[in-house]
Amino acid sequence: MNQLPRTPSFRLTGKRALVTGASRGIGLGGAMALAEAGAHVVMAARSTPSIMAAAARIQEAGYSAEGVSLDVSDYASMVNTIADYAPFDILFNNAGTNDPKPYIDVTTDNFDSIVDLNLRSAFFVAQQVAKSMIEVGNGGSIIHTSSQMGHVGGIERSVYCGTKFGIEGVTKASAIELAQYQIRVNTLCPTFIRTPMTESTFNNPEKRAWIEEKIKLGRVGEVEDIMGAVVFLASDAAALITGTSLVIDGGWTAD
Ligand SMILES: NC(=O)c1ccc[n+]([C@@H]2O[C@H](COP(=O)([O-])OP(=O)(O)OC[C@H]3O[C@@H](n4cnc5c(N)ncnc54)[C@H](OP(=O)(O)O)[C@@H]3O)[C@@H](O)[C@H]2O)c1
Repeated sequence: MNQLPRTPSFRLTGKRALVTGASRGIGLGGAMALAEAGAHVVMAARSTPSIMAAAARIQEAGYSAEGVSLDVSDYASMVNTIADYAPFDILFNNAGTNDPKPYIDVTTDNFDSIVDLNLRSAFFVAQQVAKSMIEVGNGGSIIHTSSQMGHVGGIERSVYCGTKFGIEGVTKASAIELAQYQIRVNTLCPTFIRTPMTESTFNNPEKRAWIEEKIKLGRVGEVEDIMGAVVFLASDAAALITGTSLVIDGGWTAD
């Protein structure tokens, strides 16, 4: 007799996750979601007090987490930190930034700082974690925080879109090469989420009106809107999903 199909597990018990940019915003939400699903979460960001406080909050809520101070754009220190804290089954590669400017006003400094964090550092953090996953041989899930701006253009976001379209390409190409090791690589593509990074955009009435008009579900995103998606992509429920993106945009890119 045929067995009734059963939903693969969304639980992450026994897994180890690294979350970059975990002290606030989307990274803190992702770290909490992974911890709630049962993973031990290593949380990284530059500011020591902030990342230690964020990890302590998750521990106080009854989950397993620790903080580490790390500037992901410092290659040598990133390599050492990953070696110290590996192995990892999950990477939520989330540290990123924006400094919105009209295309005509973008300077080389502005360009370099956004590309350095959002594309260069994200690339090498994932490469380093992938190397350690290959060594251990248990596969894994790499989730890059891309953006809806990795799929469409946005006002004053020529550099930001360049980095997020870039990480979409890195995701597809690396997914092809890492599949032989059962390492899945995907992106999470949120619309505007209320975080410290987007505060200045939301405080501008013209930009807020633009955002609210574009999000078909009629509200801006909250950190909670990304949390289930992080767990899903990390879990066995997404076992055949790689080289693609999960867009959480309230319908922004639907038209
Ligand atoms: N908010 C949105 O609407 C939105 C939408 C789509 C995509 N995203 C993407 O989501 C990610 C997180 O955005 P967010 O809004 O949560 O940003 P955020 O509130 O500014 O938080 C950024 C986090 O990254 C850390 N960070 C910054 N530079 C770092 C570095 N060099 N090394 C290590 N950690 C670093 C910050 O801590 P320290 O400063 O202490 O290092 C902080 O924990 C970014 O990749 C962003 O592009 C955001």
